[in-house]
Amino acid sequence: MRVAAFNGSPRTEGNTEILLREATRPIELTGHEVVRFDLNAMDIKPCQDCGGCEGTGICVYQDDMSLVSDAIRRCDRFILASPVFFFALSAQTKAMIDRCQAFWCEKYLLKRALPDGPEGRKGLLILVGGMKKEIGTQCGEATAKAFFRTISVPKHETVSFLGVDSKGAICTHETALQDVYLAGQRLISTGQDSR
Ligand SMILES: Cc1cc2nc3c(=O)[nH]c(=O)nc-3n(C[C@H](O)[C@H](O)[C@H](O)COP(=O)(O)O)c2cc1C
Repeated sequence: MRVAAFNGSPRTEGNTEILLREATRPIELTGHEVVRFDLNAMDIKPCQDCGGCEGTGICVYQDDMSLVSDAIRRCDRFILASPVFFFALSAQTKAMIDRCQAFWCEKYLLKRALPDGPEGRKGLLILVGGMKKEIGTQCGEATAKAFFRTISVPKHETVSFLGVDSKGAICTHETALQDVYLAGQRLISTGQDSR
């Protein structure tokens, strides 16, 4: 399988990055390909709503989003990892998602959904927020669902952690690292235990 893993945090060695690394560990250990995108370091212009993709499904802007779009076509497993910022996904994550408007046009206007591939397409959403407020993950969950469905990922699992604020604090969480490791295993599993 080929896995595209998106790190939406600007904080190097922060909680999101640690969780994403742990989720991809079982995937790499079993020989699957992981292509990771550190969105904060990428040149991805926010969607300009120019309508340029409506008739083609292709964005008129040529920047690092081309790398992401190629991976979205090539991969069959997707991990979206983001910190909760103002009860939502980080701006870095959202900018990448908005540029998937081109995939939305391809799927819903041009009626050309991305093909399933032999093992189907599946997603994993990882969220981490500093506050202990459930509402913190609701907006991110809704946006991520729209993202996954737009890139023809019909189902995804969400693993979220609240009350984790300082850099690296996720390492002291009792179950988090194991939780995402197991979620990574489930993502590539094709057996009955795969959610
Ligand atoms: C701009 C900004 C906005 C934030 N907004 C929220 C929020 O609305 N809810 C929340 O639970 N945590 C919020 N936080 C805290 C982060 O989610 C938390 O520190 C998280 O662990 C950061 O993950 P990271 O280490 O991967 O960057 C915010 C942090 C920043 C910098």
